[in-house]
Amino acid sequence: MLGTTPQDWRNRTLGVVGLGLIGGSICLGAGGFRGASRFNSIIGFDADPYARDQSVQLGLVERCTDSVVELVQQADIIILAVPVKAMGVVLRDCTALGKQPFSGKIVSDVGSVKGSVHACFESILGELPPGMVLGHPIAGSEKSGVFAGRADLFVDHKVILTPVDTTDPEAVAQIARLWTLLGAEVLEMSVDHHDRVLASTSHLPHLIAFSLVDTLAVQDDSLEIFRYAAGGFRDFTRIAGSDPVMWHDIFLENKTAVLESLELFSKDLGRLKAAIESGDSERLLGVFTRAKAARDHFGTMLANKPYRQKMTNTEIEFIAGPATQLGGSIRVPGDKSISHRSIMLGALAEGVTSVEGFLEGEDALATIQAFRDMGVVIEGPEAGAVKVHGVGLHGLKAAPGPLYLGNSGTSMRLLSGLLAAQQFDSVLTGDESLSKRPMKRVMDPLAQMNALVESDNDGRPPLKISGKRELKSIHYDLPVASAQVKSAVLLAGLYAEGVTSVHEPAPTRDHTERMLRGFGCEVETEGAVCRLRGGQQLKACHIDVPADISSAAFFMVAASIAPQADLVLKHVGINPTRTGIIEILRLMGADLEISNETTVGGEPVADIRVRSARLKGIDIPPALVPLAIDEFPVLFIAAGCAEGKTVLTGAEELRVKESDRIQVMADGLLELGFPTRVTHDGIEIEGRGTSSNPVFNGGTVDSHGDHRIAMAFSVAAIRSAEPITIRRCANVATSFPDFSGLAASIGMQIKIRDAKS
Ligand code: S3P
Repeated sequence: MLGTTPQDWRNRTLGVVGLGLIGGSICLGAGGFRGASRFNSIIGFDADPYARDQSVQLGLVERCTDSVVELVQQADIIILAVPVKAMGVVLRDCTALGKQPFSGKIVSDVGSVKGSVHACFESILGELPPGMVLGHPIAGSEKSGVFAGRADLFVDHKVILTPVDTTDPEAVAQIARLWTLLGAEVLEMSVDHHDRVLASTSHLPHLIAFSLVDTLAVQDDSLEIFRYAAGGFRDFTRIAGSDPVMWHDIFLENKTAVLESLELFSKDLGRLKAAIESGDSERLLGVFTRAKAARDHFGTMLANKPYRQKMTNTEIEFIAGPATQLGGSIRVPGDKSISHRSIMLGALAEGVTSVEGFLEGEDALATIQAFRDMGVVIEGPEAGAVKVHGVGLHGLKAAPGPLYLGNSGTSMRLLSGLLAAQQFDSVLTGDESLSKRPMKRVMDPLAQMNALVESDNDGRPPLKISGKRELKSIHYDLPVASAQVKSAVLLAGLYAEGVTSVHEPAPTRDHTERMLRGFGCEVETEGAVCRLRGGQQLKACHIDVPADISSAAFFMVAASIAPQADLVLKHVGINPTRTGIIEILRLMGADLEISNETTVGGEPVADIRVRSARLKGIDIPPALVPLAIDEFPVLFIAAGCAEGKTVLTGAEELRVKESDRIQVMADGLLELGFPTRVTHDGIEIEGRGTSSNPVFNGGTVDSHGDHRIAMAFSVAAIRSAEPITIRRCANVATSFPDFSGLAASIGMQIKIRDAKS
């Protein structure tokens, strides 16, 4: 058997049987026979003498053998790049070499169906040789033949290997390395799974494309039709130009799996037909909006970004540099808390709710997706505009699977309350960070309401929520000041008989209460208690989402600490339960001027002008902590740039946010040569802001995938001596898409780097 080091290949011969698009591209990707080749030699065989001839002329191979048998004898690594149907002929030829023609060799194939190739080996050779690794590159082109090969055909494409129990792991490693050399990403799965996945994602689309083109082509006026069949038809049917013989083979070889997915598709197509016949616009919009959302997210999903993915998205880094002058007039994206609630309440309302200024961040998109999964038709978001076709208090349907809420704690906690009251069971899951966050705080009051919300993970997600429970109203004394818990109880309370009330130990954001009122629901607030009666109907309305003060906070601090700055932040939500950042910064001596105050949809908004200022350290009043709960990472940066000491207490909640925000900030600051004193519920920061000299050293900090930590350190760089590299920044998109672009527009220096490259 061959060794695994690349050097070994220099004494080896690669043999490719079948010199069409795939075989030819493998030869070219491996360097052809020219100087770049990784192998001692690349040899080929094709049943067509012309292809053999041309492959030598084109430099795909050094030479061709006159038979498969000769190639197998002379090559060490053999790729059978022949159509699935031709595999039998090739293997039968090989039996001229005895019962084990591939003994001591590494072999692989490229067929689109793995079950039938496996079966073919078993029937002709009695078994799948241990050195044979079944494989399938998910790459191709509608072009075929010896001239179609391209050295980069597999770059950034996936290759699926489907080893069986008896496959030699060393052979798998070698074939995986060959594909990696060709630029592909290698995945492994079982033969069955491969054939089912490919039936839906590749074979079915080809069938539909062939069929549609044929349907039109055989019509009398086909010329006329094709003349006007422009972009859409052309894009959709590109794959109908693929090799007919190969596809003929694939459908017959993968019959069962193809028929299953064809059956499913035919049913759905039938439903669409019926919807058109009966003018069922709800169904049509539902299918189209869900499909559009899924299609739009392909890119994000494939790029391994966080949306509907586990948090493997650690690759994006920010490199933020010093800046002296900031200025301009900007509007930051929509408020995250209000965006979530606009979808939730819009979905429960009667009628169509229109939303503008919606935050198109990953968290709010996760909420949209969850409601789409529960059968709600949601159009958009398109430049911040969303239309939610409400289904009424009792119109949600069971989702087909677990609801994946990404990084979003707000979605999970609020949905827990809402789903505890439904007639169906639900499962809520999230990414790595969300899976560590405490949910007992919502499970406890919901249990008191007779809901059943369970976790097998010590009160952490996934959460299993049982439906068909009769909820009863309660009075709940919040042990921690949390708007998420308050909102979860109020949403469950909408379904409970009688009046549900919540007492909060300190004021927390009241967007749920305000928005419920906007939807025509009576919610009373009396001091620290709010209450609502169950069973009230919500009526659709229009929602104008203000810019998020939590996103604006980064620029408030940025402009305050920059040596020269004059910046206007437009249309920022200044709900008094959110303005802790303004109050704290003013106590520190910041120059913030509020103008154009007005109210949109029950929420106060204003423009905020920020100019550079000499900040001073303060003891942060504990009463302001819940009102600035998300703003502390960037406030720590302000404190670092202030004169004197800043002391934060009563903020243990920061330890259970998307990361432990006290510790992670302290660790990052230390990396920048800025030690702090961490306490159990806060931090002490000795400011160094006696001059406009750099306050922080440059260096590398880890955001721990926490969006607000990543943005806070980007702000710190304004006053750093050298650039700061911030690791794991992809989650900035959860709350602030294009943060770096907007930051650059006011003079901040942030570059994005894909850490993998
Ligand atoms: C939120 C409430 C806050 C906040 C979060 C959003 C909300 O959480 O930190 O980013 O939209 O209700 P807690 O309620 O847990 O304090």
